[in-house]
Amino acid sequence: MGARFLIADKNSARDGPAVARATWRVTARLPEVPTVRRRREGAPGVRRRKFLGQGLILVLMGLGRRLSPQGVQPLRYRPLARPVLVPLADLAVPWRARRFVAEAVTLASAATPNQPIRVTGMVVRTAAGDDDPDRFKVVCVRCPHEGCDVDFVADPSRLPPEVVEDIGHPVKEPVYLCPCHNSTFKVENGERLGGPAPRGLYRFRVTGVDAAAVEIAEVEEDALIFI
Ligand code: FES
Repeated sequence: MGARFLIADKNSARDGPAVARATWRVTARLPEVPTVRRRREGAPGVRRRKFLGQGLILVLMGLGRRLSPQGVQPLRYRPLARPVLVPLADLAVPWRARRFVAEAVTLASAATPNQPIRVTGMVVRTAAGDDDPDRFKVVCVRCPHEGCDVDFVADPSRLPPEVVEDIGHPVKEPVYLCPCHNSTFKVENGERLGGPAPRGLYRFRVTGVDAAAVEIAEVEEDALIFI
């Protein structure tokens, strides 16, 4: 009996007489410790916090999947419907972008599964010299924010001041700039530099270079889910 009075008094001080009465009805049927636990778990505010907490975990899981290009997890690639061949002659000069269109099929987990799609990409040679596959960087031009096509900005001194300010440091190399809401991305790996985009650009993989062409035969798996 003494314990019941203690609980009612404590809640009265904190929550007022209405809560104190409700607590008394519960404590009258249950032992002291289980009563306190049941009341807390069953309260509407606690149920709502649990629900919000579970929702937040799901959102973070989804974001984690989308943010993987920033280095959290290794990227996974999937084959295109057919390889793209970009003539080496079009990529002789460093930092000159060459656009192409690839054909692929969405994955079973996409909103529209197993559908043929066309994915536009941009390939750039980032250094002069031999034709090592590492010299060619390839991304999807579709902005992961709201789907506008990004532009290749060869001369970063032409970037608007507010865009440079958003990036937070001087930009010395070409970048991709989304014309819709000014998200910016690295040419080398599509990594997001600034703006509202939730992640970097999706990537293609260079799968070979021969005497005539650069072969691009794979695209980042998430591109076939979220594009
Ligand atoms: S669509 Fe690219 S930043 Fe909004």
